[in-house]
Amino acid sequence: MKGIVLAGGSGSRLHPISLVASKQLQPVYDKPMIYYPLATLMLAGIRDILLISTPEDTPRFEELLGDGERWGIRLSYAVQPRPEGIAQAFLVGADFIAAEPVTLILGDNILYGRMRLDDIVRDFREGALIFGYPVRDPERYGVVEFGPDGEVLSLEEKPAEPRTHLAIPGIYLYDTQVLELTRGLKPSARGELEITDLNRAYLERGQLRAQRLGRGIAWLDTGTHESLLEAANFIAAIERRQGLKIACLEEIAYRQGYIQLSAISALVEAMPVSEYRSYLEAILAEPA
Ligand code: TTP
Repeated sequence: MKGIVLAGGSGSRLHPISLVASKQLQPVYDKPMIYYPLATLMLAGIRDILLISTPEDTPRFEELLGDGERWGIRLSYAVQPRPEGIAQAFLVGADFIAAEPVTLILGDNILYGRMRLDDIVRDFREGALIFGYPVRDPERYGVVEFGPDGEVLSLEEKPAEPRTHLAIPGIYLYDTQVLELTRGLKPSARGELEITDLNRAYLERGQLRAQRLGRGIAWLDTGTHESLLEAANFIAAIERRQGLKIACLEEIAYRQGYIQLSAISALVEAMPVSEYRSYLEAILAEPA
């Protein structure tokens, strides 16, 4: 399974914060937003990851994240020249995907909790898999309705009268048909290749399944000033209570077995004195 993090877009709702550096480079409490979706993929066992962003921001992500070696993963980069839709990620990433299934996560989506994505990825065989997450205001989102075995019955985009309260988070799994199906899409009225249209194409083939994300999981999006602040407060509350960090990539890499403890030690050496460094030093001091 390959992974794509889509981190372009215009971020217009965060103006003027997003004027000179993209939304996904902004902090969510104590680390850049992009760390969170990357952590989600790493925890799912996905280690070959393509990051897609704008022509201006892609070099900044490269500067921040490098080739991923320090976290035992492979990171590569591609440019989406204009924000022409989430599904365009598959066209931009066609060479990267080659003939493998792929998980796409949006760069401004934060998922926290035990969602067992590693098992889901391991068991994924064919078709497409999306998720449904209960929200108070489903009319703001893509909404999914599905049967007892996860077979999707309907998809609605920002419906005035939603059939369910289950919004579709920005994480999707696709099999090797994704390129062919994306190539068959036409831009929508707003000129974008819509992820909902791609999902609909799978639905028409009877190959779209959905899984409920329970209420014990937090799905936060960070597209507005308020939701960004709420996400930061959420992360801060948990980290301060537990003394554990969410989405600390070095820690995840170590606990997943992607790197050795000695690699953390070398990384810490090169880090400025900071709370982040102290946190990693405490991991180094853990009894074996
Ligand atoms: P959106 O929140 O729909 O859009 P945006 O980030 O451009 O922000 P705004 O609505 O405030 O202008 O995008 C969701 C995610 O997908 C976000 O991480 C940006 C990314 N995205 C792209 O990278 N390319 C695209 O063409 C689109 C539509 C979104």
